[in-house]
Amino acid sequence: MNVSGKSSNMNSSVILGSRWSVYRELVRSISYYVTTPIFYVNSSPHIGHVHTLLLADALNVYNRLKLGSNETIFSTGTDEHGIKIQTAAEANKISYKKFCDLNSEKFRNLFRCYETTVTDFIRTTESRHVQAVEQIWTELDRRGFIYKCTYSGWYCTSDEVFVPESSVTKKEIDGQEVHVDQNGNQLVWSSEENYMFRMDLVKGSVMRWLKDSKPISPNKFNDDAIRMIADTKDISISRPKHRLGWGIRVPNDPSQTIYVWLDALTSYLTVAGYPCSFDNLRRWPIDCQVIGKDIIRFHAIYWPAFLTALSIHLPRKLICHSHWLVDSLKMSKSRGNVVDPWQENEVLTKDGLRYYLLRCATTHSDNDYSQTQAKRRINAELADTYGNLMNRCCAPAINPRQVIPKAFVRDCSGLRISGIIEQLDELAQKCADYYEEADFYKGVDLIMSTLRQNNALYEEFKPWKLVKEVETNEDAFKIYNNLQAITFESLRICSILLHPIVPNMTRQALRWLGVNDITWRDARVSLGFGDPKCLENKLVKNPASILFRRIKCE
Ligand code: MSP
Repeated sequence: MNVSGKSSNMNSSVILGSRWSVYRELVRSISYYVTTPIFYVNSSPHIGHVHTLLLADALNVYNRLKLGSNETIFSTGTDEHGIKIQTAAEANKISYKKFCDLNSEKFRNLFRCYETTVTDFIRTTESRHVQAVEQIWTELDRRGFIYKCTYSGWYCTSDEVFVPESSVTKKEIDGQEVHVDQNGNQLVWSSEENYMFRMDLVKGSVMRWLKDSKPISPNKFNDDAIRMIADTKDISISRPKHRLGWGIRVPNDPSQTIYVWLDALTSYLTVAGYPCSFDNLRRWPIDCQVIGKDIIRFHAIYWPAFLTALSIHLPRKLICHSHWLVDSLKMSKSRGNVVDPWQENEVLTKDGLRYYLLRCATTHSDNDYSQTQAKRRINAELADTYGNLMNRCCAPAINPRQVIPKAFVRDCSGLRISGIIEQLDELAQKCADYYEEADFYKGVDLIMSTLRQNNALYEEFKPWKLVKEVETNEDAFKIYNNLQAITFESLRICSILLHPIVPNMTRQALRWLGVNDITWRDARVSLGFGDPKCLENKLVKNPASILFRRIKCE
């Protein structure tokens, strides 16, 4: 993988359209497909959205390193149909399409802003997507999975879903009795003609998939999905046009609009090139879908149900994450407690914010967002640990010749390096185990502990003193050389392993070390023993600036 900063292969679909032979070539070469949910355009992006996006980006970067190739699909996009978008556009007094264009662009800017490796951006209002949804509907109908009936139930506009009776409670708001779901969202009673999807025909198969393959990680969310599917009945997959006007019409029945979740979930197929025969999809099945815990039902029950009905392979893995809270409440537009990513970038820097989100969030539990905590963490680790070590070993006072030693000096008993070498050698495998599950914080924990240990060695052996004696004192020469050799090696390895977390910062560090191309396999100790005086040492490249400047804390 080239880390020199060249742009990613965004919009490979443009290349795809050109020639069949090129298309076939890409079909064969794409080796990983990761998705984020597509974002509702009724509000502006917040930190929660950034988190979903960055999790998927870190997974994509990690997989590219593992594969040694950039031929992956990383898709994101915007979910633009439905009642809440309709209502938001009306409140803003602009046309639905214009409203979607404006807000979709904000999400597009988001992935650009963090220089993510997104390759595909899909909007549900694009004609290629409308075509895919119509085709899916026609196919489900042809296979006997759709029937029409009068459906009555409590509808939650915020989640765009009919809520089962067992989850509905009554509440008094402003002296009026209203019905709410488990999250307190207000519900409306609706009784209408709908098309229904025959869940009963595929429920057993989806249940087996959940139980046998355990596709959702962390496992507790897999258990949640198993519990949810137990009381899932046939799904309403259309709404009358007079209720839901802003959406894709049911083929051959323009009085009905296709249910927004069937519409939105299909976007993952659109990106893969559907409609086309399944053998010709750019990559299938999807390797990994990143989702928030609020949308498990749709991705772990509805989506696999639709795919099973269409005889299409189910995703290999779903990584489910918890939420960012503010003062223990979920961040959401309706609560008015959202944290704006652009404002945070100003204070924490983009690298800093990215680091905080991936470093401090655990997938299994919610986390409280705190700028103070973010500053502390970023300063302690990016500036004082990683950045500091990098700056120290390149500093003219410690490294006047700007040399990166390529080898250890033999017979150096003065410096205990074996412990740190063993640690460095095991680091890539341990991080890989964690990164596979998107447990990035656990991997970073190990990396930081190694770097801290390396900083401690520096404190203990004081290379700024040793460097003055290297010409005259053999022991000082050996210890100094070995300390510098292991430190640069440690920085090289840790920079590769941190690359999915802070790509910009690590790219910069690797550039100083003269490294442009990296793969995950390169994250092994590759220092032998030799006589560094006879070896051609590498030189540090332009270490003029500071790798990461501390953020001011009041
Ligand atoms: N449009 C649907 C997804 C359709 S996918 C076929 C949707 N959109 S969303 O904009 O509401 O959410 C997108 C993602 O952002 C979800 O994964 C959701 O969990 C995540 N987040 C929204 N708020 C969040 C937090 N406060 N914290 C972390 N992630 C959160 O759902």
